[in-house]
Amino acid sequence: MESLKDLEEHIGDCHRCPLGDTRTHLVFGVGREDADIMFVGEAPGRNEDLKGEPFVGAAGRLLDELLASIGLDREDVYIANILKCRPPGNRNPQQVEIDTCTPFLREQVRLVSPRVIVTLGNFATRFVLKTTESITRMRGTVQQAGHFTVLPIYHPAAALYDGSKRDVLFADLALLGQMCEASQATEQRERP
Ligand code: URA
Repeated sequence: MESLKDLEEHIGDCHRCPLGDTRTHLVFGVGREDADIMFVGEAPGRNEDLKGEPFVGAAGRLLDELLASIGLDREDVYIANILKCRPPGNRNPQQVEIDTCTPFLREQVRLVSPRVIVTLGNFATRFVLKTTESITRMRGTVQQAGHFTVLPIYHPAAALYDGSKRDVLFADLALLGQMCEASQATEQRERP
């Protein structure tokens, strides 16, 4: 696969798992093909399923605020999910769905090749870091997965349910902002 477009075409009108029968739209992902930062969420919710785009509901509005807090908007990054189709009633992703769908996420990561992958919540963090640790323990810690730097943070939806997580999320985004500044400074120093 040479581009995200090739990949999207390859996925097509997917029915590789039963979620293909219940979804409205497959939610492939959005953003820059050459983004330095990639956000990985869990699965489309109702609004995303209707629109075919990730993070367009209330959690998405908070994600936009978080991005704005470090001077970014969604056109600067790439956003995808562990699952490309909505689990009915927003239930948790099942292992068979994760196993069927994540080869496509891996391919998105390979094609975008971001400097930093920000995992949103437990499912994305556990998948990307191959860990069973909870997001409460992992959040705000800089991790490595192969040659990718990974920053786990709370899922924005968690902060909508539990307001005390909001400040923590903004603090973790500030850390992301610092990581980006540091890598830009290194890049400038290394430029001939
Ligand atoms: N929650 C997610 O994890 N992903 C979305 O796209 C929307 C809500």
